[in-house]
Amino acid sequence: MRRKKCRDLKNMTALTIQAEQLELVYLLEKEDLGETGKQLLEGLGRSPKTISPRYFYDAKGSALFEQICELPEYYPTRTEAEILKTVSPEIAEITGNTELIELGSGSSTKTRFLLDAYQQFGQLDYVPVDVSASIVEFAAEHLFQEYKNLSVTGLIGTYEQAIAHLPDPEDLPRMLVFLGSTLGNFSAAESDRFFKQTRQSLRSGDYFLLGVDRHKSTDILEAAYNDNQGVTAAFNLNMLSHLNERYGSNFDLNNFRHRAIYNVSERQIEMHLDCLQDHTVEFQDLNATVEFQAGESILTEISRKFELGKLRDNLAMQGLKTVKVWGDRQDWFSLILTQVI
Ligand code: AVI
Repeated sequence: MRRKKCRDLKNMTALTIQAEQLELVYLLEKEDLGETGKQLLEGLGRSPKTISPRYFYDAKGSALFEQICELPEYYPTRTEAEILKTVSPEIAEITGNTELIELGSGSSTKTRFLLDAYQQFGQLDYVPVDVSASIVEFAAEHLFQEYKNLSVTGLIGTYEQAIAHLPDPEDLPRMLVFLGSTLGNFSAAESDRFFKQTRQSLRSGDYFLLGVDRHKSTDILEAAYNDNQGVTAAFNLNMLSHLNERYGSNFDLNNFRHRAIYNVSERQIEMHLDCLQDHTVEFQDLNATVEFQAGESILTEISRKFELGKLRDNLAMQGLKTVKVWGDRQDWFSLILTQVI
């Protein structure tokens, strides 16, 4: 098989593993717990306190997120999947053969609709990007059973690392795929930075396919983030167990309660952990303590809900021209195909 090279891997653990049609490229920086711990304490020193949503995703948190995607109230995953199922052939017709690069690929479940449509071109080049090597390997094993002529180059790292270190381009155009409305978890400034980096990593004529959740009624949105079975609550609280593991802290989960509200003027869901009583949390590994008071809350995630006009303008400002937008019947979710001008 062809071997792809990654550029400029300074300060990275760069290791390439090759199996028959699978190549994994490790881009993860060695984690500096002192530095990430400092950032954590900075967030907990703010008013209101914040914790980065990246701490949702330890093994248990990732499993809980998979469960969230199946919940009756959490419509984004299945709505996006339905749209993709219907429109993937049209996307393939518009773009012609492309190398598919998917940010946050996970189990690559929805990607299958795209792979089905791109099979007609013969050779399939798929580049999943995820921080978990095991999930990329697991997904690739299954994909190899389903697709002939498939080559998979997994990039193990964050979105930023992957975008900055895409393998040298094939002769084919590329399509960068970013599904699941993960863009909504970025602030407006982070999202503009991300579009700029995306633009820089692509060539003129390449494509960027983006799945986003739309602004809609508060009832529907709040139900999606406050499900009846309490899975989202467990996902939110699990962040504290993850911190206990990672930094030797002693958060007691019983001292906090999950709350998610839709901030209509900001067009974003805000997930909080409300503190139920005054107490002190010790971070043994960071040599620090943090005071919590009853009634205060920690902001753990924003999930922005988009208006198409504004989003298209932001994409256009970064040189990403909208080619076509698809949605479901209720316009709850949109898939936007843009092209680099
Ligand atoms: C990963 N991300 C797009 C999800 C969202 O809807 O913002 C994370 C999530 N948080 C609570 N439920 C799902």
